[in-house]
Amino acid sequence: MKSGKSFHTIAAASLKEYVTALQESGLDGIPVAMAGAAPVVPASPTISTPVVEMLMSKDQPHESLERIRKDLGECQHCKLGKARKNLVFGVGNPHARLVFVGEGPGADEDLKGEPFVGAAGQILNRIITAMGLKREDVYICNVVKCRPPGNRDPEQDEIAACASFLLRQLQSIRPEVVVALGKFAAQTLLETKEPISRLRGKFRDFHGIPFMPTYHPSYLLRRQGEGSMEAFWEVWDDMTQVLRLLKLPVPEKNRKR
Ligand code: URA
Repeated sequence: MKSGKSFHTIAAASLKEYVTALQESGLDGIPVAMAGAAPVVPASPTISTPVVEMLMSKDQPHESLERIRKDLGECQHCKLGKARKNLVFGVGNPHARLVFVGEGPGADEDLKGEPFVGAAGQILNRIITAMGLKREDVYICNVVKCRPPGNRDPEQDEIAACASFLLRQLQSIRPEVVVALGKFAAQTLLETKEPISRLRGKFRDFHGIPFMPTYHPSYLLRRQGEGSMEAFWEVWDDMTQVLRLLKLPVPEKNRKR
């Protein structure tokens, strides 16, 4: 993120709009009293923004993914809306125990309207299969729902426009683990500039959900050419921690380096 505003600050700002829309429609997803307390731009960025905490609270009434997708509609909240072919909401099991969050759709995803269907998606599929899981078992989504032109990093206004939708997706699914795929998703959600090489491999807390940063599948693709399997095995080490936390069997792998 280029400016000093945190993910949670901008999420809170876009949540304010969501809360207002809920109030106007008479729906009570978030208590009205909290809506009043929601800062549009808090004086200082804080990770414990009341509305974000409220939204991610276990007491929050359940909201379906369909409902959240419907609210997004043909979203034009940021400049990515004009250029996209398809909005890429997310795919997978609405009751998934494990959610993967990437950065944003690429060209293939934009064409198909589904996350991780291109080359990086093939690598992600192999990781999921290696874990003994199927793509339909997990849920896959991105920080931003529309393709940034030329696959550049999403900008702050674009993250802001999508933040509340991502939080609502996570709140709807309430997974037992979130895996952040790559530097951008990990740094944005954890509000840190720490390099992914240091973030990966350790569980963090994301509003009560264990959160594991790991390398992006595209990074593994780029490293393949160098003949190094090291990054792949680091991802595998991260995924074995995820499997253990989920109390799922850890398939044996033969590490030839
Ligand atoms: N890279 C991402 O971060 N997300 C996708 O959906 C595809 C590629």
